Amino acid sequence: MSPQQSTAADVAVIGIGRVGLPLALCFADRGLDVIAVDNDPVRLGAVRDGRMPFEEPGAQALLERLRGSDRLALSERVADAAGARHIVLTLGTPSFSHIEIDMRDIRSALDDLLGVLAPGHSLILRSTVAPGTTDFVAGYLAKHRGFQIGEEVFVAHAPERIAAGRFLEEIDTLPCIVGGVGARSGEVVGELFKAFAAPIVQTTPVQAELAKIWTNILRYATFALPNLLMMDCERYAANVFEVIDLINRDYPRGGIAQPGLTAGTCLRKDFTFSEERSAAPGMLLAVSRVNETVPLFLLEGAKRRLGSLANRKVAVLGLAFKADTDDERDSLAHKLIRQLERELADVAVHDPHVATPTASFEEAVDGAHVVVIATNHAEFREPRALAAIAERAGRDCLVIDPGNCWGAAPVLADAAELVTLGAGR
Ligand SMILES: NC(=O)c1ccc[n+]([C@@H]2O[C@H](COP(=O)([O-])OP(=O)(O)OC[C@H]3O[C@@H](n4cnc5c(N)ncnc54)[C@H](O)[C@@H]3O)[C@@H](O)[C@H]2O)c1
Repeated sequence: MSPQQSTAADVAVIGIGRVGLPLALCFADRGLDVIAVDNDPVRLGAVRDGRMPFEEPGAQALLERLRGSDRLALSERVADAAGARHIVLTLGTPSFSHIEIDMRDIRSALDDLLGVLAPGHSLILRSTVAPGTTDFVAGYLAKHRGFQIGEEVFVAHAPERIAAGRFLEEIDTLPCIVGGVGARSGEVVGELFKAFAAPIVQTTPVQAELAKIWTNILRYATFALPNLLMMDCERYAANVFEVIDLINRDYPRGGIAQPGLTAGTCLRKDFTFSEERSAAPGMLLAVSRVNETVPLFLLEGAKRRLGSLANRKVAVLGLAFKADTDDERDSLAHKLIRQLERELADVAVHDPHVATPTASFEEAVDGAHVVVIATNHAEFREPRALAAIAERAGRDCLVIDPGNCWGAAPVLADAAELVTLGAGR
């Protein structure tokens, strides 16, 4: 990898995070000359040294294969992206606490690019954005540089819909939505994504934006229903997993999902991009409120059974926002831990995947009064994990398992009850 830009690269990817880095590697793997840009020297340094800065199955091997080739150049300077014909923005788009998209990273990159863009360039928003953002970007370039968008410079939204952990398989299978501005942007940007085997679906910019946001809203709302049902079941002393089985079993119109600590870097914030200008303000906020309440619901369930949690040891297993990843961003496990600490509980945490240092499984679980399976990682789904909890924490330890790691046991149950139910066998 050469540290400087190639002046004749095919594609630049700005922001080599969880979306941008696997994408840049995949483009290079398909034979394109790629410039990967990031303003974080630590992240760039890791890639330069051939180390993936985060887990993504298959990406480490890909990075090692590409290390010796000239197809992947790295740069800290956004303006170096102009050395490529296509420029893909994969920057973060968080939300402000004001229910509003935070576009500061996109604006900053746009301003860095303004002076170096030239006819023939295409600028592709791969980040998740609020409706109207692609037209804003096109308008910004037209206003400040006078480009005819869709004729001289091409702008499109090609949203990333891949799930973390499945990048390398889904890049060739998930339909690639392209919403181009003006006459030819869609066609030009579609050519770039032909590097992958996935079908390309052309649409308008705003439809591409809505499709991505609502893909995530659908998931966020889908999980709110079993989470609300879990809370209802607690009120009626019912077993939510049995109710879910009753709903779904052999019923053609079933399909309710499992409950859990629903959040993460995309689901937690993408709904706000719709809520910002919603025709039914508050509906998605209510969905968010249900999901955001799950940690408190679990904590209060423990208090109903044990009384005060002060000075009691609570083991939280899992910090990542979903199973089998190392991504902790916006994970509700952190919120649960903060709430437990406010109860003066002695919290011990174990997660075998994340970068944050945590205790070992044994240290976390030994002598715990409560064990919460906050992330249903494969390691915790093993029957031997339940056996180890019962042995180390004791059979009367309260086990809280909203993700149903071991079969249809109650969400809150004694370890002994779980073992007796055969859940751990
Ligand atoms: N993570 C996912 O699973 C996922 C899936 C689909 C879509 N998305 C969307 O994709 C976008 C990127 O998400 P992500 O998880 O990859 O984010 P990320 O935070 O992992 O990556 C963003 C990268 O951009 C870099 N950066 C920030 N400002 C910069 C600047 N001005 N110049 C150069 N580099 C800069 C950061 O250092 C970071 O490495 C977001 O809009 C997100 O909503 C994410």
